[in-house]
Amino acid sequence: MAFALPFSALLSILSHSSAHWCYQSQYSYNNTCRDPSQWSVIFPACGGLHQSPINIVTHHVQINNSLSPLTFNGHHNNLNITVENMGNFVQFLLPWSVQVSGGGLPGWYRGVQFHLHWGVDARPGSEHTVDGEQYPMEMHVVHIKEPYNSLEEAVHDAAGIAVLAFLFERSTNDHPHLNSLIEALGRAQNKGNQSTVPGFKLCNIIPASHNLHNYYRYVGSMTTPGCEQAVVWTLFHKTIPISNRQLRSVAQQARFWTGQPMVGIFRPAQHLNSRTVYRSATSLVQPDISIWLLCLVSILKGLCVLH
Ligand SMILES: *[C@@H]1O[C@H](CO)[C@@H](O)[C@H](O)[C@H]1NC(C)=O
Ligand SMILES: *[C@@H]1O[C@H](CO)[C@@H](O)[C@H](O)[C@H]1NC(C)=O
Ligand SMILES: *[C@@H]1O[C@H](CO)[C@@H](O)[C@H](O)[C@H]1NC(C)=O
Ligand SMILES: *[C@@H]1O[C@H](CO)[C@@H](O)[C@H](O)[C@H]1NC(C)=O
Ligand SMILES: [Zn+2]
Repeated sequence: MAFALPFSALLSILSHSSAHWCYQSQYSYNNTCRDPSQWSVIFPACGGLHQSPINIVTHHVQINNSLSPLTFNGHHNNLNITVENMGNFVQFLLPWSVQVSGGGLPGWYRGVQFHLHWGVDARPGSEHTVDGEQYPMEMHVVHIKEPYNSLEEAVHDAAGIAVLAFLFERSTNDHPHLNSLIEALGRAQNKGNQSTVPGFKLCNIIPASHNLHNYYRYVGSMTTPGCEQAVVWTLFHKTIPISNRQLRSVAQQARFWTGQPMVGIFRPAQHLNSRTVYRSATSLVQPDISIWLLCLVSILKGLCVLH
């Protein structure tokens, strides 16, 4: 009996604080939550040596010939997907018919959800940076390895999760298919709100697969607590266009669990430590060969004309 009160008090403190990790933007507003530099106090894995996101230093990246193009299933399917405000971010649930394999991945992975990371107003908000440059927004499509049934099962395997990451780049015109996602964010305004996005196709957002042969690959973690180090990361070179108007609109739709505007939802870059970042080689070789052939043809033509 003597221990009952302190123990339950401790439990309530633990469960109270663990629900309250937050991004820097939220911490600046109300510093009662744990900002990214303090996540590891409540989630020890966040202080690990294989954390994400990272800054990719392109002249340190190693070309790896086993990184062939990926194979996608279900990207052209018409889906009715659920959008849900989780309090710290908003996720769009995917069915298992969305699948990915190849590209050096050890088997088939099935879709679980995708979500976006954005900034404050229309300022940069990507998680991964390339040579120190932060992009306007980043999309993560989260998959779990077959035959796992949930993220909870998959996190016990160092390659249990495959995240496909896409950086956004500013464009003058609106991206025609992003508006339905932005409206869906608005229907998931508060924590716990759910809504349906009918007739959604991943291929309307994600570039065609022949544009996805070039990518970076490294092993890392989830970028939200618990920061489980179970993720094979694929970051594509090809970006997705988004207009300034759309970017501003994305950041105006949803709210954190505290009711404040959901803005600045990105974790800063983590140390690479002993890891190597690889790059696919596939389609970089082809243009080189065709350029050589063109040169050869024009040289031969030149020789013919000369004689
Ligand atoms: C700050 O956050 C705490 C815990 O979520 C909450 O109880 C408090 O009311 C907030 N303060 C302000 C000024 O929003
Ligand atoms: C290529 O990448 C794989 C991981 O996908 C790694 O196991 C292998 O060692 C890399 N090969 C080279 C030559 O770096
Ligand atoms: C999506 O929802 C529409 C109507 O709300 C329904 O007619 C259609 O069959 C659904 N599609 C799928 C793949 O569930
Ligand atoms: C969204 O969540 C808020 C707060 O929980 C609730 O009051 C509101 O009714 C919900 N709206 C919808 C459309 O579910
Ligand atoms: Zn993410």
